[in-house]
Amino acid sequence: GQSQAKLSLQPGTPQLTISKHIYGNFAEHLGKCVYGGFYVGENNTKIPNTNGVRNDVVAALKKLKIPNLRWPGGCFADTYHWKQGIGPKDKRPTMINQWWGGVTEDNSFGTHDFLNMCELIGTEPYLAANVGSGTVEELTDWVQYVNFQGTSPMSKLRAENGRANPWKVKYWGVGNEAWGCGGNMKPEHYANIYRQYSTFMAGDKLFKIASGANSSDYNWTEVLMRDIPHHMMSGVALHHYSVIQWDKKGSATNFSEDLYFATLKSALFMDELITKHTAIMDKYDPKKQVALVVDEWGGWYDVEPGTNPGFLYQQNTMRDAMIAGTTLNIFHKHCERVRMANLAQTINVLQAVILTNEEKMILTPTYHVLEMYNVHQDATLLPLELKSTDYTLGADKLPAISASASKDKNGVIHVSLVNIDPKKAQDITITLDGKATAVTGKILASASMQDHNTFESPEKIKPVPFKGAQLKGNNLTVKLPACSVVVLELK
Ligand code: AHR
Repeated sequence: GQSQAKLSLQPGTPQLTISKHIYGNFAEHLGKCVYGGFYVGENNTKIPNTNGVRNDVVAALKKLKIPNLRWPGGCFADTYHWKQGIGPKDKRPTMINQWWGGVTEDNSFGTHDFLNMCELIGTEPYLAANVGSGTVEELTDWVQYVNFQGTSPMSKLRAENGRANPWKVKYWGVGNEAWGCGGNMKPEHYANIYRQYSTFMAGDKLFKIASGANSSDYNWTEVLMRDIPHHMMSGVALHHYSVIQWDKKGSATNFSEDLYFATLKSALFMDELITKHTAIMDKYDPKKQVALVVDEWGGWYDVEPGTNPGFLYQQNTMRDAMIAGTTLNIFHKHCERVRMANLAQTINVLQAVILTNEEKMILTPTYHVLEMYNVHQDATLLPLELKSTDYTLGADKLPAISASASKDKNGVIHVSLVNIDPKKAQDITITLDGKATAVTGKILASASMQDHNTFESPEKIKPVPFKGAQLKGNNLTVKLPACSVVVLELK
């Protein structure tokens, strides 16, 4: 089929920026994300590390350019008492990780460990505060502990624990999934709780994010936008996972085309979700001062056979590359309202960018998509008109092509294209609204949609130069293979 895209080389009016923060990541105390993933302990002699944080992981995440990292949860956040994670490690109390496998958390990775690690990676921390089972005082103290420069009980304690200067944390989540694991609250109740807790978070440069809706719970967004004064919050969150059925998620690697289709349908639903949540926000906030923060997204499948069901460890195939490519294109399209997002989760949990096994580390197809796409970070959105052919399965259909374009600060244009059809290549004609003189690109593709990288074959899927684009005047023709992600660069 012939798909058509009309791409304007002129930035739209108003000029919109694709915030780099939509490329955020998420690290929860869950399974082997923090312990074994990021952190292997200061005394580990087998795995090269800096203060216990894996050097291979730091290098990979630097290359990925993750702009922010959310921590310590997720559901874990509303059980976490940060004061238990500071000071000498042998004196720290333990706790039970009630949501994730009931394992014992020894608090060896705490506030200093996380914030220093963010400095090492070159990413901004996004702290998720305990509102479900914590106190206002605990949160007030946490803000003061990490941010206060002057003399105070908390800054004194911080200095005693080895850090004289504050870290200056800007991004704060006021609870997580308050409708569920964060306290099973009703939206009206949470709106009041939000107002109360955020009142005592000192510092006017804080970017405070209210715990958001579960997927299509539009009433949640409505109540928050109506009941929380907008000067008290910079963002409202939204969580949506690409899942087939919560009680029957299916294998991450061994799936039929039916299940592939169902997963992508759920992923593409993000567009409708954002459109509808945005419409509600527009009603209360026409100037778009409050951001929509999609701080949990990604594919969710059954855990790998033989692994702890509470650890959410899953493999990552070309299907996940399709989720990542299409979702990021959707975020770009909505960048005026969606100014931050967090893929769940960075290492060994759900749609991870990295998997580790003791001293081994592999990069997933999702990693490669995020890396190919990072050229869009903080670039200007270029409007795109797209006429896509359909990817059909039986009587059901989805648009086969997803596309997005931007211009970076050096005037270089990038176009990201996804063909989710696992059987058919697509010929795309892109009409440029101006002239380009050279086109280069990268492609991520593999023989089958179930393909993935393993510890035995870590580079089965990786980006390679793309030769399928041709420039003729202001026409660009692209041959996009089945189930592939391409990023083009136009000069
Ligand atoms: O990402 C895993 C879990 O999914 C998070 O802890 C929670 O917020 C969501 O339900």
